[in-house]
Amino acid sequence: MSKENKDYSRYFDFSDAKLIGESEDGTLKYRIRGRDITIHSQPDLLAEKKRGRQGIEVIYDHPVTEELSDFGLGKYYEIVTYGCQMNEHDSETIMGLLEQMGYTQATERKQADVILLNTCAIRENAEDKVFGEIGHLKSFKLEKPSLILGVCGCMSQEESVVNRILQKHPHVDLIFGTHNIHRLPKLVQEAYYSKEMVVDVWNKEGDIIENLPKKREGIKAWVNIMYGCDKFCSYCIVPYTRGKERSRRPEDVLLEVRDLARQGFQEITLLGQNVNAYGKDFTDLNYTFADLMDDIRKIDIPRVRFTTSHPRDFDDALISVLAKKGNLVEQIHLPVQSGNSLILRKMGRKYTREHYLELAGKIKKAIPDAVLTTDIIVGFPGETNEQFEDTLSLVKEVGYDAAFTFIYSPRDGTPAAVMEDNVPMEEKKERLHRLNELLGEFSRRSNEKMVGQTVEVLVEGESKNNPHVLAGRTRTNKLVHFHGSRDQIGKMVEITITGAQTYYLRGENKEWITSGGAASFA
Ligand code: 5AD
Ligand code: SF4
Repeated sequence: MSKENKDYSRYFDFSDAKLIGESEDGTLKYRIRGRDITIHSQPDLLAEKKRGRQGIEVIYDHPVTEELSDFGLGKYYEIVTYGCQMNEHDSETIMGLLEQMGYTQATERKQADVILLNTCAIRENAEDKVFGEIGHLKSFKLEKPSLILGVCGCMSQEESVVNRILQKHPHVDLIFGTHNIHRLPKLVQEAYYSKEMVVDVWNKEGDIIENLPKKREGIKAWVNIMYGCDKFCSYCIVPYTRGKERSRRPEDVLLEVRDLARQGFQEITLLGQNVNAYGKDFTDLNYTFADLMDDIRKIDIPRVRFTTSHPRDFDDALISVLAKKGNLVEQIHLPVQSGNSLILRKMGRKYTREHYLELAGKIKKAIPDAVLTTDIIVGFPGETNEQFEDTLSLVKEVGYDAAFTFIYSPRDGTPAAVMEDNVPMEEKKERLHRLNELLGEFSRRSNEKMVGQTVEVLVEGESKNNPHVLAGRTRTNKLVHFHGSRDQIGKMVEITITGAQTYYLRGENKEWITSGGAASFA
């Protein structure tokens, strides 16, 4: 834990904050407006930018000690998750830890003794939602003073966020970050007994903690293969909130995947902010993402996906392994962000439009039925209409099946946040609209091409709007609706595609129809 920047007083802008104690381990205690606050360690954006030289330590301890294992018996928790799959997966770890402490998941908020908000910092509107929810939770805390209200995840790694919580939301009991999730059991215990607000956000990001319990449900599982990001794209907060790139040891990843296969999971998604950089931090081992995929290919799990990749590190060795297919599905998420080389340079993406197009071409040559999806930001500071048009033309050239599209959102502490931005918000919204229209057209056209084909669908459950219709996904991750029976949930079925919409397909399960089921949609 970094003690370099122990002067927490910069958090407290108002005169009534008093330092009331300091313990030997560096923990400081403050009193603000009648609320006592214990700060073990603080977030620090600048420190997070520094990449330490220390080696990566892999820790195999067990975080829930005997003493803590029945702390939550008879008590309930709720966790609200914002943001990406990495956060969703962190929440599975948090749930795993709380359940090992004896806690049970609450079925309604009123029941909860611990409520945690696992937050996302990627765009301003993500943060606004969280502050709205923190405000809303105040009434629950007033009604049930023993409730422990915690904020964790990416926002907690930001100084400005912690500052704002300390000043404006003293009903929060616990703030911890993305690097010290394993400390949660101890922190919950501390917040419960001390009745103080406990802040423990680590900047130190050198460690990998193994053996953390995970609460997984259903047929699909996420598997972390690496943490952090060293790319420092100029708009992005992630390298600050998630720390430096560090890869899990291959033997630990493979062990986890084999275990998931044994448990009957049908699909895994390998997770990392930049999975193509996997293994680059090993000092004793020459083992890359391509090697990992080649080893996972041999494990008996029907579908393997990964997210997210960076075009710069996507190499030929990986393309060759993906072309072997088997359980490696032919859908690749390849964020482009912009189709204009100058904007890409300002974004610090370290590739050009031409390089990206060449890569997309190589992938399609090696895997002709590959489906490409992407992320795009519109309205980056100073983006001209012509530069935006380059994004539209790139979208046409690549022919994506789907994309996540965003209006640029300035993030404090990132280089882009201080770039001059003369593009009005109305213009940005209009660009986003034009882009989404184009993407929708491509998605529908690609879906229409599938009509008449019979494809393998992993049945995930009932469709959201109609319990008589089942919903599943193709290998390329397209959503398919069809009539079937509930016992098909969790299984692979052959579906003949009969209709195409922009965002989903309709189909028929011939086997089920032959056995007497209804063919068409009501
Ligand atoms: N503003 C808008 N979109 C962003 N993304 C990341 N940072 C920002 C930002 N500051 C988008 C990128 C990334 C996706 C996860 O979120 O497209 O790939
Ligand atoms: Fe995920 Fe990035 Fe949001 Fe953190 S800031 S939750 S890593 S998208």
